[in-house]
Amino acid sequence: MVLNGRALAKKVFLSLREELDQSESKPGLAVVLIGEDPASQVYVSRKHKRAARLGFYQETHRLPVDTSQADLLSMVDRLNRDERIHGILVQLPLPKHIDSDRVLEAIAPHKDVDGFHPYNAGLLSQGRGFMIPCTAKGVIELLKEGDIPLSGKSAVVIGRSNIVGRPVAQLLEQNNCTVTVCHSRTQDLPALLQEADIVVAAIGRPSYVKAEWLKKGAVVVDVGINRLDDGSLCGDVDYEAATKIASAITPVPGGVGPMTIAMLMQNTYLSWKRSQMES
Ligand code: GUN
Repeated sequence: MVLNGRALAKKVFLSLREELDQSESKPGLAVVLIGEDPASQVYVSRKHKRAARLGFYQETHRLPVDTSQADLLSMVDRLNRDERIHGILVQLPLPKHIDSDRVLEAIAPHKDVDGFHPYNAGLLSQGRGFMIPCTAKGVIELLKEGDIPLSGKSAVVIGRSNIVGRPVAQLLEQNNCTVTVCHSRTQDLPALLQEADIVVAAIGRPSYVKAEWLKKGAVVVDVGINRLDDGSLCGDVDYEAATKIASAITPVPGGVGPMTIAMLMQNTYLSWKRSQMES
């Protein structure tokens, strides 16, 4: 079975539209991009287009690569205080002269639709997640949409980033999986994968995970989006071969990618909804 992220994202967008059709005010999303990284530009323009299509109020700020940290912090501060804005996303990675942690900590936690602020990360680690990192949330939604049983299953997450690996591992654990987190220093990844009912690959290396490492019938979620020299996209898993071993698998593109955007829109909606209930 192919776990189709495009189809599920569409469902999410339709239900958001339905909710919004009945409302006079609207969620507001601000996206900040610094520099010209080609992949980041593509991601940011997708976020911008989708927010516009859903009828969100939205601002996209494209700033030059030499923008100072102080200027970025003052923009974040302004967005924190702007009542039209319910979600603020600063696209990563940031240029080296900027301290990403400092910037992510400057975003008001209730507007942190990426879920990267230590306050939101802390809530998630305690099983009280509200603003949950979009890609991680999208992975779980895809598994649930595919009726994949999670409770009691053995899951291996490859990658331990704050953006994907760590939050995915926490969410799988909160859904009663037994989770192993692997990374570049892991000694024998193939042996660990032999035991895994669920595999989430989030490492950013094209076709790194080989089909013969997988357990027969494993469920494989591929978070990787790697651009090859010929311009095509490929995931972290050797997809063609893996489809013959896996019972369910996400394609690249069309798997996790669209879900990241869908969950960003959902988080922005949730932030807006919460602000309405508080006012
Ligand atoms: N760069 C890669 N993925 C992400 C993401 O989910 N959010 C942000 N802000 N930057 C990213």
